[in-house]
Amino acid sequence: MSETTFRKILVTSALPYANGEIHLGHLLEYIQTDIWVRFQKMMGHECHYVCADDAHGTAIMLKADELGISPEELIKGVSENHQADFRDFSIGFSQYHSTHSSENQVISADIYNKLNKAGYIKTRTISQAFDPEKQMFLPDRFITGVCPKCDAREQYGDNCEVCGATYAPTELKNAKSAISGATPINKDSKHYFFDLPQFEAQLKEWTNAGHLQDEISNKLSEWFEQGLQQWDISRDAPYFGFQIPGIKDKYFYVWLDAPIGYMASFKKLCDEQDIDFDEYFNKDSKTELYHFIGKDIVYFHALFWPAMLMGADYRTPNAIFAHGFLTVNGEKMSKSRGTFIQARTYLKTLNPECLRYYYACKLSAKIDDIDLNLEDFKQRVNSDLVGKVVNIASRSAGFIVKKFDKTLSARVIEQDLYDEFVTCGERIAKYYETCNYNQAMREIMKLADKANRYIDTHKPWQMIKVQNQTVQVHEVTSLAINLFRVLMTYLNPVLPVMAQQVAKFLNLEVLDWHNLKHPLTKHKINKFKPLMSRIEKDQINQLIEKSKHSTQTNSKATQEDNTIQINDFAKIDLRVAKIVKAQNVKGADKLVQLTLDVGEQETKNVFAGIKAHYNPQDLEGRLTVMVANLAPRKMKFGLSEGMVLAASDGKSLHILSPDSGASPGMKIS
Ligand code: MSP
Ligand code: ZN
Repeated sequence: MSETTFRKILVTSALPYANGEIHLGHLLEYIQTDIWVRFQKMMGHECHYVCADDAHGTAIMLKADELGISPEELIKGVSENHQADFRDFSIGFSQYHSTHSSENQVISADIYNKLNKAGYIKTRTISQAFDPEKQMFLPDRFITGVCPKCDAREQYGDNCEVCGATYAPTELKNAKSAISGATPINKDSKHYFFDLPQFEAQLKEWTNAGHLQDEISNKLSEWFEQGLQQWDISRDAPYFGFQIPGIKDKYFYVWLDAPIGYMASFKKLCDEQDIDFDEYFNKDSKTELYHFIGKDIVYFHALFWPAMLMGADYRTPNAIFAHGFLTVNGEKMSKSRGTFIQARTYLKTLNPECLRYYYACKLSAKIDDIDLNLEDFKQRVNSDLVGKVVNIASRSAGFIVKKFDKTLSARVIEQDLYDEFVTCGERIAKYYETCNYNQAMREIMKLADKANRYIDTHKPWQMIKVQNQTVQVHEVTSLAINLFRVLMTYLNPVLPVMAQQVAKFLNLEVLDWHNLKHPLTKHKINKFKPLMSRIEKDQINQLIEKSKHSTQTNSKATQEDNTIQINDFAKIDLRVAKIVKAQNVKGADKLVQLTLDVGEQETKNVFAGIKAHYNPQDLEGRLTVMVANLAPRKMKFGLSEGMVLAASDGKSLHILSPDSGASPGMKIS
């Protein structure tokens, strides 16, 4: 790859549905894409990375219903959570939008109108399951019943998970609406279809022109053999989505406006940053367009989407990169095994860059499933990143800082070794470019081994004890630091946070790939700070435990990270208080009225809900702990000026007391 050809690239990841949290399966894709984008930017290309929440459809409408909020409120909260998760995993979107946006509405309508005008939209009346109670048509997965083949109960929609049979939802025995429990009836309705078969020749040509991975092209050949079908792009009201222009009570099916959401998100970016949208989407565009997706949504991206673009006279993608599915410890992610791990749960326990590295070690251009084996994950991170890469710096930096005035030597003692590291960059770049990150990581770790062997052979910690070898120690450790710089530059797309810390340590603006030809000589560096700590067994156990208990929630309030900062804690004025008087409250069956001595001759009046657990007389004279700066609360029986702390499991309750020797008014910190 030459540095001189400047490329303009637009990259997307699939849009996550706005009715659930981001989990480690999703992250496989966003991390894969983000690494690729960061790599392209390092190569000096213009690269935009857009995504959005996929906000439409029946599932989201019903979920909002269930939560008693509007779909708009639901998707707003979910989007905030998604974006926080992505930010904390360093997924560097240029734009993160929503399919429920004005940009998307305009472009979707426009594409539909173009397709319609060109004769690619057909209508036909079809009969579908309808919930007479909810007054709505039922998508397959909202119908349950008994399998017509094997009599397995509670089977969904159109296939049986027990015997594998496929059938029409209407064939289910004792079918029920999963929403209301009513028995569905069949009802006719006029639907709008995108006439995919008209694109067969064009699609066949496109899918064989090197835009797809081999496994995907093969899959497509099978689909072509089975024959392309018209695609139903309309849904009846009630539906959360965009109304089909000019047609009452008909909406675009969520999968119509979802991929258009890529364009809409990019449109917003263009408007904000003065980028030429048409340059990227014109039929004869010279720019590049790539979609990263999971293998489950190939049909939409390799057939419907290019056909829609062709029909509406836009450019088609340069490539679609499909990846396999994530398994954890060799199995499908499972709630009960604690392997259905949400992004937020992971973030509470482990460093996000560890996962980025592990995925990079596993990802290739193939579509095989990828296993996150938690034991292997721990070992790999500890041995590669902590044991090999960081180790090079941590065993060399001390000499430079303490013995050589933080300054690297004036010459590179073994230019050949340094050059070998730099030359290897070409191969590593090729691996990144072709999505073979696993091979890139292997190359980098081979180099890390080499650097460590170099240090081992020269033993600077021994040489330093020999009088006339000081210069050599300086040059050996300086070379080690230079090699470390090369490796961390190669790892920059994978470990952007650590690379930034290393840049700081090396007193550089950034770790720049193209600057590696110039080693750092007579260059001042900074004190070395630990970059990454080992993953402990206990952290993995915690991750699994927490994942067993985490629930799919959608409200912002329950998803908030519940850690607080030390200054949040400092706001609470906790004090030792002496209960000088305790008495029952007339007319209140739970409350005890306490008079508390809080020092400096001040007393406070507190109503505490502890009557079921204590005899008031037994409390008088004892010390406890109170929140002294709680805003006073007017109660039916008087003013309550604080709160007494107690431990409880919901059944029994125990007031806290300080250790002996404490006295009223002492501050607790
Ligand atoms: N909303 C659609 C995509 C619309 S794109 C115009 C969708 N959403 S999703 O939330 O279900 O998935 C988003 C992406 O994450 C998809 O590419 C999907 O393949 C990927 N993954 C979801 N679960 C996954 C794993 N367990 N493993 C790997 N990728 C996974 O599909
Ligand atoms: Zn069955």
